[in-house]
Amino acid sequence: MDTLGVGLIGCGNISSIYLNNVPTFQGLELRGVSDIAPEAAKAQGAKYNVPVFTVDELLARDDIDIVINLTIPDVHLAVSMDILRVGKHVYSEKPLGIDFAEAKKMVAEADKRGLCIGCAPDTFLGAGGRLSRKLIDDGLVGDILSGTVFIMSHGHEHWHPNPGFFYKHGGGPVFDMCPYYIHALVNLLGPVKCVRSIATTGFAERTVSADGPLKGKKVAVETPTTMHALLEFISGANIMLGASWDVWAHGHLPIELYGTKGSIRVPDPNFFGGAVETLIGREDWVKHQTASMPMGALNWPLDKPDRANYRSLGIAEIAAKVRSGSPQRVSGNLALHTLEVMIAIVDGNADGTPVEIATQIPQPAVLAEDDAQALFAV
Ligand SMILES: NC(=O)c1ccc[n+]([C@@H]2O[C@H](COP(=O)([O-])OP(=O)(O)OC[C@H]3O[C@@H](n4cnc5c(N)ncnc54)[C@H](O)[C@@H]3O)[C@@H](O)[C@H]2O)c1
Repeated sequence: MDTLGVGLIGCGNISSIYLNNVPTFQGLELRGVSDIAPEAAKAQGAKYNVPVFTVDELLARDDIDIVINLTIPDVHLAVSMDILRVGKHVYSEKPLGIDFAEAKKMVAEADKRGLCIGCAPDTFLGAGGRLSRKLIDDGLVGDILSGTVFIMSHGHEHWHPNPGFFYKHGGGPVFDMCPYYIHALVNLLGPVKCVRSIATTGFAERTVSADGPLKGKKVAVETPTTMHALLEFISGANIMLGASWDVWAHGHLPIELYGTKGSIRVPDPNFFGGAVETLIGREDWVKHQTASMPMGALNWPLDKPDRANYRSLGIAEIAAKVRSGSPQRVSGNLALHTLEVMIAIVDGNADGTPVEIATQIPQPAVLAEDDAQALFAV
């Protein structure tokens, strides 16, 4: 099969970048959109010239081989399971799910059926992630001993018109943002061995200030919003992670890693590009640009690009796997490992002892530059 027919469920905020990007990748053809809210599907279908279906109609179509699940985290697992049950591959937005046992069953179900599951984020395969991986694998900064990760802001209610789900179980800064950072770290360092963490909640409610019908409404906060964690990796590296939506401003970088020969600053893993910085011994920082590499150029928003946003790369990787058996890096197993780590960060152990991580996966395969370029349709 040279081309996978692509369907999409969930025509909300993030769907535009997928609908824009899918046709730019090799072996993918958009064949339908749907949403539980028919007007949302109609609007995106009209804008991107894609047929509109109900969810059931879309799942019943023979010309759709893979379905992108862009629903809200609470229903990711149920929707992904429905997609697998009708014999189609799944690519889900993050997180894979909220319940670890159910997510594990789903990954097993896909394996049993010989279907692929991919789960965002795929940003770590962008130019910034690939160059960081190469510099570390080449030994430029030596063995990574430790590092820091900071994901801090004052939440999403100032820009997202319907931010309620961010403050429910399965939301919060860890489930929402840590998949980017954990995928990036596992790509660079291999899997996590155990987690220690303290979780707190800064504010009992939030007021929506984004424009829209919910502006001025209160949202109850039902999940911790500040976590201080220590991630111990199998490699021996110890990474401090601070994730919070209770912080108005800070001066920390997204990811800094400290090696035996020097330090490396990994670009923000929320995006696909950005400059990598390295420093050896007592020398100065050196900037390594990525804009000329595949998936490094600024491309989004379309009218005034200020970031590299190649979401859908993980779907192109599934198409390549189905076509030629190439490795899948943005995999269900990676997302399951990340989910287990996130649950450990948010819930911890009641007695404060480290939470051992059971899902041990190999470090994702390197994505060579030629292979990255070959994923594009042009
Ligand atoms: N908004 C972003 O910038 C962003 C960025 C990265 C990832 N994500 C992730 O993408 C997902 C969607 O986020 P969003 O911001 O687009 O949310 P959204 O609320 O704007 O859109 C979600 C859409 O899914 C639909 N939906 C909900 N349940 C459904 C069901 N059972 N069947 C069919 N449709 C259903 C809703 O009607 C809605 O149109 C989330 O998992 C989020 O974490 C969002």
